[in-house]
Amino acid sequence: MKELIANINKDIQSFVAKSSEELEQFRILFLGKKGKIQDLFADFKNVAPEERKEIGILLNDLKNIAQQKIDSFKDSFQSVIEKKAPADLSKPADFIELGARHPLSVMRNEIISIFSRIGFVVSEGPEIEDDWHNFSALNFPPEHPARDMQDTFFIEKSAEKGDIALRTHTSSVQVRMMENNKPPVRAIFPGRVFRNEAISARAHCIFHQVEGLYIDKNVSFADLKQCLLYFAKEMFGENTKIRLRPSYFPFTEPSAEMDISCSICGGEGCNICKHTGWVEILGCGMVDPNVLENCGIDSKEYTGFAFGMGIERITMLRYGIKDLRLFFENDVRFLKQFEGAL
Ligand code: PHE
Repeated sequence: MKELIANINKDIQSFVAKSSEELEQFRILFLGKKGKIQDLFADFKNVAPEERKEIGILLNDLKNIAQQKIDSFKDSFQSVIEKKAPADLSKPADFIELGARHPLSVMRNEIISIFSRIGFVVSEGPEIEDDWHNFSALNFPPEHPARDMQDTFFIEKSAEKGDIALRTHTSSVQVRMMENNKPPVRAIFPGRVFRNEAISARAHCIFHQVEGLYIDKNVSFADLKQCLLYFAKEMFGENTKIRLRPSYFPFTEPSAEMDISCSICGGEGCNICKHTGWVEILGCGMVDPNVLENCGIDSKEYTGFAFGMGIERITMLRYGIKDLRLFFENDVRFLKQFEGAL
């Protein structure tokens, strides 16, 4: 038996496979069900008991050696195949999937571009804000019901240090801009904002805004109106009309909400504009003198205007998207439709 094992071992050691067919024949000859090694295992019952331990080890080793031989040839055949593959120049090229920019990014970039053409620079602020920047400096007195207009996600509630929260609007960046810069200030602030609202086709707890701020000597409501008319025409087309309705924000006085003539039906009345011909797109107003003073700007010398709009809303109107949730689901069938948009 020992001699037989030694001979088979020699045969295995000296074997060289030139092709995968030869390797398969080798496998059948030695490791197949009726192969040489299997025969030896079948004979094992005839081995004398005192030799069994030694022969058992030799047999198992033999089986492993044969398997290793097969594996090493298999690997080398595989790497030859892999090396050869790139040389086949007739193969069609792999298809490269083209990504698409998210529609909200497309619109944010367009809003930035429109305002930069009339001299607005871009600035950003933190998404986690303190009470001062999100509320107090913006003329929301403590316990004032206006704070309830925006359901806040609080991170830390503290009477002595002040509350820390996720910002509920980008107006917080106005404050930072005025605190850190001397007028004239002309800037827009794009960013993510957070409100504790139930998710539906028309509302989400995370959304995006662009805030605008212009502070200088003699800035008037007429300047605000002209600036917003320019924006509406650039964004929704030359024939777009605007209308301003009186409104209330603690940080602007007077305050207004701006509607544009419905870009979907051209003002004739449809589902989007609820058959009124007008859709609301932003809030705006003259910066309240209290806010200027809170930020270290002399309200006798300077005036200014501010406005804030939701990027989701603008995007829905521009592309006729009816459900806000689509922006957050990342369904490629939706996103792919924006391929090529900048
Ligand atoms: N911050 C307001 C909002 O989130 C929008 C706004 C900005 C209104 C600037 C007036 C001036 O609803």
